[in-house]
Amino acid sequence: PHLLPEGFDFTDPDLLQSRIPQPEFARMRETAPVWWCTQPAGISGFDDEGYWVVTRHADVKYVSTRPELFSSNTNTAVIRFNETISRDQIDVQKLIMLNMDPPEHTRVRQIVQRGFTPRAVRSLEQALRDRARSIVETALAAADDDGSFDFVNNIAVELPLQAIAELIGVPQEDRTRIFDWSNKMASYDDPEYAITEEIGAEAAMELVSYAMNLAAARKECPAKDIVSQLVAAEGEGNLLSDEFGFFVILLAVAGNETTRNAISHGMHAFLTHPEQWELYKRERPETTAEEIVRWATPVVSFQRTATQDLELGGQQIKKGDRVGMFYSSANNDPEVFENPEKFDITRDPNPHLGFGGGGPHFCLGKSLAVMEIDLIFNAIADVLPDLRLVGDPRRLRSAWLNGIKQLQVSTTSG
Ligand code: HEM
Repeated sequence: PHLLPEGFDFTDPDLLQSRIPQPEFARMRETAPVWWCTQPAGISGFDDEGYWVVTRHADVKYVSTRPELFSSNTNTAVIRFNETISRDQIDVQKLIMLNMDPPEHTRVRQIVQRGFTPRAVRSLEQALRDRARSIVETALAAADDDGSFDFVNNIAVELPLQAIAELIGVPQEDRTRIFDWSNKMASYDDPEYAITEEIGAEAAMELVSYAMNLAAARKECPAKDIVSQLVAAEGEGNLLSDEFGFFVILLAVAGNETTRNAISHGMHAFLTHPEQWELYKRERPETTAEEIVRWATPVVSFQRTATQDLELGGQQIKKGDRVGMFYSSANNDPEVFENPEKFDITRDPNPHLGFGGGGPHFCLGKSLAVMEIDLIFNAIADVLPDLRLVGDPRRLRSAWLNGIKQLQVSTTSG
């Protein structure tokens, strides 16, 4: 097989904290589509010796759209862990739809997508439009005397959290608790947050139990929200309350971390490409949000497990092998994107794979995410049209997220 140099691991949180390895991806795409990385997956009871790295756009799409060959059943989100993860943990993860295969996945997906119809997203948009503006105004009011503030914690974090709370009908008074749990669950690879596996797991269980109680209450006494719809009557067409609990966990991570980082990277891209920001303020192109997601690719990679021996990109893949789809690489594939290294908010068409490669797991929240990105940059262009970058962003340490945890900006011309 095409072997990666010893010690080079695309899911190494230290590597991803310092940079996304675009030069390496570029060389790999040119040389061979699929590579073997000798880095154990770190799941006890699995004798993974390493994993396959899929770098080209066409191959990432191929793997995504063939669930019968590439299963999602064994933890799709993280290839390896800093420390060994137990079998139990993997089994719990199977309750989350991201880690299900058809037919279970099909059943759950059919139910939950009722919450994401164009109509549901439009009604959320109305609820969030004023919220977006007030988030930006509040950040401005809270800026230091010299006009500086952290964009991530004052702006990027807020709208995705509010959107999910709104989506699942969390009453205003409970939102701080929800925010706290979902923050604890995510990004525990980063030692700065000092989140141990226990704290993360505890937060997850508290969120599940909160969501289950909410489900039980709505079942008893239905309201007009999505929870009521999803859990309404007993029976096949609805979610059980524990299924709903795990769905909320998924929403908390899948909807928050990703969108927050798209917004932070988007702001950073605008601040470092002032001509694009001028263009945005003038024309507000509809193609902007998709380019921000391509540019940021918040989810660097997800993975599958081969269900049988097969060939991919000229390589012999064995049943049980882990196959990593590197969206970050696919989104910079010059076979598909003209000048992929250019941040171009008018890029059209833009068939990026930031929301997945188009298979059954394709991001359920895509239109919600695009709407949130549009709302927040519109509000920023109106309220803070002349932001300025102060220093470099601080990157998140993570095995799979392209994250920014601090982005200092200023409202004054310094
Ligand atoms: C799945 C990215 C926002 C909910 C996914 C996948 C990716 C992704 C890469 C996996 C696709 C696959 O395996 O084929 C993103 C990005 C976002 C974003 C980059 C923001 C820019 C959201 C939001 C929500 C959401 C706002 C919900 C509120 C989900 C769910 C799944 C998913 C539920 C699992 C779908 C399934 O397993 O069938 N997302 N996402 N995402 N996303 Fe998103």
